Amino acid sequence: MPSRPAPPTAPPTAGPPVPLNGKLPALPHWEQPPADLPDAIRQVKAALRARIAASGRTVEDVFAVVRDQIEHEAGEITAARERGETIWPVIDYADIEAGTVPAAARDRLRRRGCLVVRGHFSRDQALTWDRGIVGYTEGNGFFENYRGPGDDFFGTVGSRPEIYPVYWSPAQMQARQSDRMARVQAFLNGYWKHESGGVRWFDPGRDSMYPDRIRRRPPGADSGGLGAHLDPGNLDLWMTQACQQAFRHLFDGTVEQYDPWDAAYRTTGPQYPGTTMCSAFRTFQGWTALSDMAHDQGVLHTVPIPGAMAYLMLRPLLADVPDDDMCGVTVNQVFPASQQWHSPLLGALSGIPDVRAGDSVWWHCDMIHSVAPVRNQQGWGNVMYIPAAPWCPRNERYAASVRDAFRTGSSPGDFPAEHYERDWSGRFQPGDLNDTGRRGLGLS
Ligand SMILES: [Fe+2]
Repeated sequence: MPSRPAPPTAPPTAGPPVPLNGKLPALPHWEQPPADLPDAIRQVKAALRARIAASGRTVEDVFAVVRDQIEHEAGEITAARERGETIWPVIDYADIEAGTVPAAARDRLRRRGCLVVRGHFSRDQALTWDRGIVGYTEGNGFFENYRGPGDDFFGTVGSRPEIYPVYWSPAQMQARQSDRMARVQAFLNGYWKHESGGVRWFDPGRDSMYPDRIRRRPPGADSGGLGAHLDPGNLDLWMTQACQQAFRHLFDGTVEQYDPWDAAYRTTGPQYPGTTMCSAFRTFQGWTALSDMAHDQGVLHTVPIPGAMAYLMLRPLLADVPDDDMCGVTVNQVFPASQQWHSPLLGALSGIPDVRAGDSVWWHCDMIHSVAPVRNQQGWGNVMYIPAAPWCPRNERYAASVRDAFRTGSSPGDFPAEHYERDWSGRFQPGDLNDTGRRGLGLS
């Protein structure tokens, strides 16, 4: 293990094989998307199989360990849900602030990898922010000038968007730089192992601001939702050096040591570019509710099993998957969780409970999630996307472009280049930043 995280290298083609550890065969790696995807998939799958075999275990043995554990957990979750139990852990913000979160609740969060924070902000504060966003967008003629979805990921039918490509409203920035947000992010980051092998992989007490969009879905809306997927990457998860190291235990016969909360090697490497990429390392994805939302109104679902990533990563190596197929994962698209390959997991998809404006919702960055469809939605469905993205080499690199986007009111680099806000009035200004905001942008 190196004493420092290796800087990312970016050769356009396959680099030299990576010795991960010990006497096992090395893996080919591609720091940029390979030109010949089927060939690269064949190569990396063969190398991963050979590496596991050289450890003295078969792919089938290793997968069986993961499958038994994950299917057991999925079965427990499904049964609990059918008994009417709430699957998502819920913790009061007041307990996080006071350091009085009960041990049982902490354990549930670690096991389920997701959380609702009740009263993260007051309901009045959240509703004020929601009105502020309406004033900011309407006052700047957003709806008159809206040009349609800038990408096909959240693309919606009709002229009024649900996802607003708006990043720099006072409401969003006030939430991002608030003490209450910093406290919850630090609490969540603390679930991760952030130091190992003499390397501090991230700073759990400092968030790097990751500006994202807002969603405002009006009463009466029909929405097809979003299919089950995960966001940590796509083929790069198997093909880059950093990911091969991050998932090393899955590929070297020590699958029992795989820890979904270990940040080693996750905070340095690149992700393959594309419209669905996230340049930042996020410990948890999250959003803050700006309206009350009932659990049956097209809300977020997760498969609340952080360790399911082991299943997702090993499944393509089984013999029933064609040699040039990674269970449907490819570049420039989100990683799909499908009935064809992942059905034992999908039965555990569990929705959030009712939330109120001011509550926040969080889920481990590797977890499968979806958004349920809804017809004739009752009430608004409004959220600001604000994740936990702790300060680390990967996020520090992205922060440079975020600073530029902030200063000019541009869309941040991970998002379509729509730039609606550049000449908007009422935009959050550099002089409005507090210490947390400046630190989040790398300005102090
Ligand atoms: Fe997602």
